[in-house]
Amino acid sequence: MSEHGSAKPTKGILLAGGSGTRLHPMTLAVSKQLLPVYDKPMIFYPLSTLMLAGIRDIMIISTPADLPLFRRLLGDGADMGVTFTYREQPAPDGIAQAFVIADDWLDDSPCGLILGDNLIFADHLGKQMRAAATRPSGATVFAYQVRDPERYGVVSFGEDGHAIDIVEKPTEPKSNWAVTGLYFYDGRVREYARSLRPSPRGELEITDLNRLYLQSDELHVQRLGRGCAWLDAGMPDSLMQAGQFVQTIQSRQGLLVGSPHEVAFRMGFIDAAGLEAYARRMIKTELGQALMAIAHGEG
Ligand code: G1P
Repeated sequence: MSEHGSAKPTKGILLAGGSGTRLHPMTLAVSKQLLPVYDKPMIFYPLSTLMLAGIRDIMIISTPADLPLFRRLLGDGADMGVTFTYREQPAPDGIAQAFVIADDWLDDSPCGLILGDNLIFADHLGKQMRAAATRPSGATVFAYQVRDPERYGVVSFGEDGHAIDIVEKPTEPKSNWAVTGLYFYDGRVREYARSLRPSPRGELEITDLNRLYLQSDELHVQRLGRGCAWLDAGMPDSLMQAGQFVQTIQSRQGLLVGSPHEVAFRMGFIDAAGLEAYARRMIKTELGQALMAIAHGEG
């Protein structure tokens, strides 16, 4: 184990801030990450992803107005076998600010971060994430090919396939590999985050943080291939597409997408009785019935 290696378990941050201006008027009264994506609130999907990485100690960061709503939805985490800590981001001052907000809670733990509007579905994702979450040092990001890279952080690669550059919303992207909103960092992340200064748009940029790791040759870029879907649900079209995607998979396969309770059960965070207790509360829904079947070993 390296000097930065830590026996400490990896913590997780779920960032669900922002004002959702691209979804107005839907987000005037309700946080974007609470809007439905088919049969679940949006935040269930990234939460399931973090849990699939084996993370059980999770901080939810949101605006002062929305944080109580997340608390009402998610509680203390006991029904999912995890622990939630809630903290406010007073103003939308950038994704990397999450590590400044979480500084004392993080201590020197490694940490995964996921954005509350990022939906990622991939075979073997759990395995890839668990590898990233337990990497003794460095950072791991996931890249995905998109048609409109200028909307995202963009990573470009050298001939040997190594990442050479990472730029936030470039007007002339050097590749079409977008950096997804799922990141893993070693215990130095607090220190790096403290050293960041606001960008010209006034935010602590996650891309600047990633660049610090890239400069010390410690940024691992994991490419997500064709059999993978990365959706962000930040605009009316993409919100609808995400819902239709989930509906299609669930109704065709009878498998749930983005259920933190199912993940909790499969990861061994809760037992069958715990899953059954939750399923009973939802039993009028197909989701509740599917969870009940899983608790009875039929799923
Ligand atoms: C943010 C990040 C960007 C990343 C994207 C993923 O963009 O700044 O690097 O590619 O999330 O969803 P934003 O959603 O703030 O436009």
